[in-house]
Amino acid sequence: MKLTSEHLKSLHELYIAHLKKALDMEREITKALPTMVEKATTPDLANAFRTHLKETEGHVSRIEQILQRQTGKADSQTCKVIGSLITEAKDGIKDAKDDATVLDATLIAAAQQVEHHEMAVYGTLRSWAQLMGHNEDVALLESTLKEEKAADEKLTRISAQANARAAA
Ligand SMILES: [Fe+2]
Ligand SMILES: [Fe+2]
Repeated sequence: MKLTSEHLKSLHELYIAHLKKALDMEREITKALPTMVEKATTPDLANAFRTHLKETEGHVSRIEQILQRQTGKADSQTCKVIGSLITEAKDGIKDAKDDATVLDATLIAAAQQVEHHEMAVYGTLRSWAQLMGHNEDVALLESTLKEEKAADEKLTRISAQANARAAA
């Protein structure tokens, strides 16, 4: 695709708007993950959430770094998607009551929905950054995208183990 300077200007504005939403998204996730750690009924799952909380703090600072470079400040904008996903997760936790198997399955489902949303967000941001030649941004976005994918895969493995235990 051949981009004119007008196209680049609108793409840049779109990029900044989505970065601001990504910042809100990551901050909301850092607030939600401690509850996931607390509610998880197996050490594997609790550790997976704990590790991803640490990584997510890094995701916040990478987005802040990109926004600082692009706009001179790190303002956020409300991400409605993460708000809905977190509300759904809280409802699921309430519905699971104290049934450990259901609770862990609920937590894993909620977390994987979040990871998939993040993968979509970072895949898009990375493509736009590539198009505009923001190479330092591409590297940071790529690192985060890899961690989101790895977190999702780890959750798939934990859920398979939990299912095998439940079936045994
Ligand atoms: Fe993240
Ligand atoms: Fe994540």
